[in-house]
Formats: sequence, C-alpha cells, structure tokens
Amino acid sequence: MTVTPERPLLPLVGSGPHGSRSAMTCRYRCANACDHPEPNPTDNETMRDLVEGAIARRSVLKGGAFAAGALVVGGVTGGTAPAAAAPSSRGNLGTAPFAPVRPNVRDAVTVPRGFEHRVVIGWGDPVLSGAPAFDVHNQTPDAAAAQFGYNCDYVGLVPLSRRSALLVVNHEYTNEELMFPSGEYDSATMKKIAMASHGMSVVKVRRSSPDTGLWRRVAPARTTYNRRITAHTRMRLDGPAAGHRRLRTSADGTGTIVRGTLNNCAGGMTPWGTILSGEENFNQYFDRSGELDSRYAESYARYGITGEGSRGWSEVDRRFDLSKEPHEPFRFGWIVEVDPTAPRSVPRKHTMLGRFKHEGANVKVARNGRVAVYMGDDERGDYIYKFVSRDKMDRSGTRKARRHNKTLLQHGVLYVARLKGDGLGDGRYDGTGRWIPLTSHSRSFVPGMTVADVLIDTRLAADKVGPTRMDRPEDIEANPVNGKVYCALTNNSKRGSTFRANEANPLTESMVREEIGAPLIPASGNRNGYVLEITEHDDRPTALRFTWNLMLVCGDPEAPETYFAGYPKEKVSPISCPDNLTFDPRGNLWISTDGNALGSNDGVFKVPVRGPERGHVKQFLTVPRGAEACGPLITADGLSAWVAVQHPGEMDGATFESPGSTWPHGHSFPRPSVVVAYRP
Ligand code: FEO
Ligand code: CA
Ligand code: CA
Repeated sequence: MTVTPERPLLPLVGSGPHGSRSAMTCRYRCANACDHPEPNPTDNETMRDLVEGAIARRSVLKGGAFAAGALVVGGVTGGTAPAAAAPSSRGNLGTAPFAPVRPNVRDAVTVPRGFEHRVVIGWGDPVLSGAPAFDVHNQTPDAAAAQFGYNCDYVGLVPLSRRSALLVVNHEYTNEELMFPSGEYDSATMKKIAMASHGMSVVKVRRSSPDTGLWRRVAPARTTYNRRITAHTRMRLDGPAAGHRRLRTSADGTGTIVRGTLNNCAGGMTPWGTILSGEENFNQYFDRSGELDSRYAESYARYGITGEGSRGWSEVDRRFDLSKEPHEPFRFGWIVEVDPTAPRSVPRKHTMLGRFKHEGANVKVARNGRVAVYMGDDERGDYIYKFVSRDKMDRSGTRKARRHNKTLLQHGVLYVARLKGDGLGDGRYDGTGRWIPLTSHSRSFVPGMTVADVLIDTRLAADKVGPTRMDRPEDIEANPVNGKVYCALTNNSKRGSTFRANEANPLTESMVREEIGAPLIPASGNRNGYVLEITEHDDRPTALRFTWNLMLVCGDPEAPETYFAGYPKEKVSPISCPDNLTFDPRGNLWISTDGNALGSNDGVFKVPVRGPERGHVKQFLTVPRGAEACGPLITADGLSAWVAVQHPGEMDGATFESPGSTWPHGHSFPRPSVVVAYRP
C-alpha cells in the first residue's frame, strides 16, 4: 500500500455565497438557499473542530507551498487487489480507454473521440399515448402532464429484457423565464403548466440489439408502461409517521394521502426493481396570505420554510398557502418509492426514511439480507443519514417477494453520521465515524421527541445527537464491486466563515478560475467539493461504525489544495462540484458535476477507486452552456452512459427570447433532455 503523506489546508478567508452557479439557477432550483441564514443553528462539530483536533495529533507542514496553517493529513492511495472480472470490450465503459474531454464552454454535449451521443427524450416530448407534439407556443397544463417534464435530473433504467427497459427520470424544477415566450401566457396558466412539468417520467426505451449502447424511446402508443407523475399525482404516506396530526390537511383528514411530489433531485434503483426519488428543496413552493402558525416556527425555520416562496402556486392551489394549510409542507421532503413496472401503482412516501432536503437514496443489501439506505441532506452544514431495515429482502423473485420487499423501508432504524478526524496519519484512513441512532419504527432515541417527531422533524432530532455538519451531502452510494460507500460533498463557500472547518470538510479557502485559461485565484470556503469514501466496519452495511477518507479534494490539479487519492496531479482532469455518483460494472466511480468553479461547462468524470489507477480522474463528457450534468448512469453491460442535461442556458440575463443556449439545437431555445453516450 502506498501512503501519501500530505494534504494541505488553506487559511481562512470570506466572500460571497453563490459559488459559480448562475443567479437564475439559484433562484429557481433552491430559492436562493445560499442567501438565507443556514437553517442549522447548532454548535455540532464541523470540519474545523476536527481539523484542530487533527493538528494536535498530526504534523503540520513547515514552509513549502502550503505554509501558513497547512495541515498534513494521511490518505490511502492504490491497492494491489485485482480488478473485478467483467467482460472487456472496446465499447465497455468499464474498460474502454478514452482521451479525456478538455474543459470547454461549447454549447454542445461533447464526448471523447470514438464515442457518440444521442438525445433520447427531452422537455415536451410525448410520454403518454395521445399527448400532443411539443409546441412551445401552445403549452397547456393537460399537455404538460402527458409530456416529458422540465429539468430532468435522476436517471434510472429498469430492464424489461435485453433490448427493452423503462427509463425513469426526475423533473426537479421549472424555470418559467426559459419555458414561456414573453406575453403569451397568463400567470395562472404558467403556474399550472409548471406544476404539471414537475415530478417524474417513466418512458419505455428499446435498442436494436443487446450489443449496442444506443437506445431510443418507444412510441407512446406502443407501450402501456409510460407514466407521468406530477405535483398532483396521488401518493400514499407510509411508515410510523403516516396519519400523524401534523400530516393531516383539510383535503386529507387521514394524513396518509398526498397529492404530488416536488423538487425531485437524485434517486436510486432498489435491488427489487423500484425507484427511490428524493424530494429536495420543497420549502420554496409555499407562500402565505397571512400569519404563519407559531406552533411550527422552529420546524419551519430549520427547513427554510418562510412563506416567501416566489413561485406563487397558492394562486392556483390553496394548499400552497401556509396560512391556510400549515401542515402541507410536512407532506414533502420525503423519499418516494415508485414501481415503474406497475403504471397504476400508488407511489409511497416513506416516513421511516426521515424528512429533510433529500438529495437521493441508494440501497445496499447486507449479507444477512437486511438493507441499508444511504441518504444525503443537501444543505450547507447538514448531515449524512442511513436507514437499516428490520426485515430481510426476499430474493426469490416471486410476486409475493416483490410485495414483501416493497415494505422493507417501513420498519428499521434511522441513523445520522458523526465523523471524527482521528486517523493515525499512517494513511489507512483519515478518521473514524459512528452511525448514531435517531429512531426505530417503534422507539425514539432522541429525548423529548416521539418517533413521529423524529421522522417529521428529522433535522431537529439530528441536531440533538451531535452529528458532523457537512459541505452539502449529495449522492451517497455503495460501490457494488468493493462495497465502500462514496459521498459527494458538492461545495460550501461559507466553510471557514459561518461554518468552522473540520477534518472531513477541511477547506476554508480554495482556488477558482473566472474562465478557462484565467489565473487561479483564491476564494472563500470549499468551492470545488470533495468525494468522501466510507468503509463500513467489517464491510457490513448494517454496521454502526466506519472509517473514512477524503478520496478526492476536487478542483484544478494546479491548485495546491487539490488531492486525487495521491494519483499524480498532472495527469488528472480538473473537476469541480461533484453532485451525482454512479458506478460502472468494474466498480469505477462516475461523477457528474453541478456548478463548475473553474470556468468550464459541467460534465461527467470517471475515476477508478482501486489499483494503480485509483484517483485518476478523467473527464468523459461536458454538457452545454449553463447546464448541469445529472444522472449519470452506466448500464450494467457497460455499453451506455446516460446523462440528464439539466437547465441548459440557465445563465444570468438569459430569457426565452435571448437564450444562453439553444441546445439541442432543434429550436431557438434550450430544452433539458436526457442523452445516451456510447461507442458506435
Ligand atoms: Fe438538486 Fe442537491 O441537487
Ligand atoms: Ca444533486
Ligand atoms: Ca444536481
């Protein structure tokens, strides 16, 4: 094992909050979360606390490039384990060599030489049989509810056969300035269309042979699987908090039936073939006509629910008026389970998985059959969570087994992560961690809070047990080959000012570029993000202890703070703001980014996690101007890379009439779309 002895920390500085995202994206996606006070007011340990402890234990660099305040932290590189057996072919993304795509600002999807890509489906394309063809000048709420929604995010693929599958996509949010020609639609109609353009899509796709990575969508009239889920779709709350007083509204006295799902960001496919979808920045959809219910002031504040939502949906649907329906926001912020193979099934919001700004959820089955679900709460200074089921997965493949497996996420224990920077500097790990129990389905472990309290106000419950405040935990997912768990910590410009650093979130300053080729300049906080690698004790997903490494400290390899698992920095691609994660059949990690702070468009990257290539980050794809890269998904056969191109052209000053992008170039305005990249 090779040991890399150094990883620097930079001095503290302060500046603006938004990083490199356009103000437009900040407004529409998360309602300018960065401009609001952090909803986590606790003194729970942050990275700075861990760093200070680590400084006491480890040696500080003297002089050299990382002088003032720099910290030496151990990290593991390499390993000698052989790569997992997987078929090698020139088109297999697990093994196929490619020359990295260079940073660029093209208004295009760019893939390496030798690969191609194709748009499979985009905003407005018909999903349901009978849906009209997309016409930007004749949008209606009914048409939108039958067409592909806006701003595609999570991408899942549920196989039906070797040639057909169900593509499942989240539609995170809408941007009315880019969707509607000015003056053509009234305010109420735009809101109704926006509500129908949220949610999810299920779309049958086919390929001509099992040897190709190119997939196309099936005509809606030729399948009965296709489905649209919107802000109105009937859903059921299940688990211990279902039916609780705070989940009841005037439309639903039972507290178990919710209409719709909102701000669906990332997700995951379960081993039993359903899709989990995370409700993320749900707080922005609620406004108010009068006073807020003072009983919920603490809860609202911890979730950023202010009643100042700028979408104004209460104009067309009174449940979004907090003064009239104070409980409606408690019915969002959950993980939703959808069975795409049963188009009429009622999606489930699982209260047992807690309520927060869910990025996504990914399942790992333990050797004993119980399942762990890893989840990130995407807010500056919030936490990483894990659920462990009481019951075991039934792998028999029968209908009865499927019914049983769809109940697994209703009983078990919900935990939150505390990380300590207590690595010994020997390179084996940077620190240890514990999963702290919050509640089971029948017993709360948080004093003064019931089971339902913990599940509805999960953030407030977690605050009381001392977890580590992280730099925006996004996707967190177990690698199917090596079993380790990887978490994207996307960025936090306020680390070092509002948030003290700690060893798992160490940077209080980082280097950015205003544009490609411009000099690197220092900026406050963690601007380029990290990838955290967690090793559960004894490699058991049900374990209560773990060790962790910062495998990647992202940024420009020329920036002194960056770290790529010890791989030679001159050989890696610059990478900034990791967001969504997936793995290819060889266990290589694939990362999509959101908010490049180095002057380039966002993109998708491949990085091996073991062997001599561990840490060799290579850019596979870039997305068009103004877009973020979402998904991503590498198919089990390694032949296809699916990527959601979200919010192309969402740049400051852009409008429908003067767009920042026209990708995919079928019109004079951009259309968020899902692409598949493959080797022809
Ligand atoms: Fe929707 Fe955490 O990004
Ligand atoms: Ca995300
Ligand atoms: Ca994202």
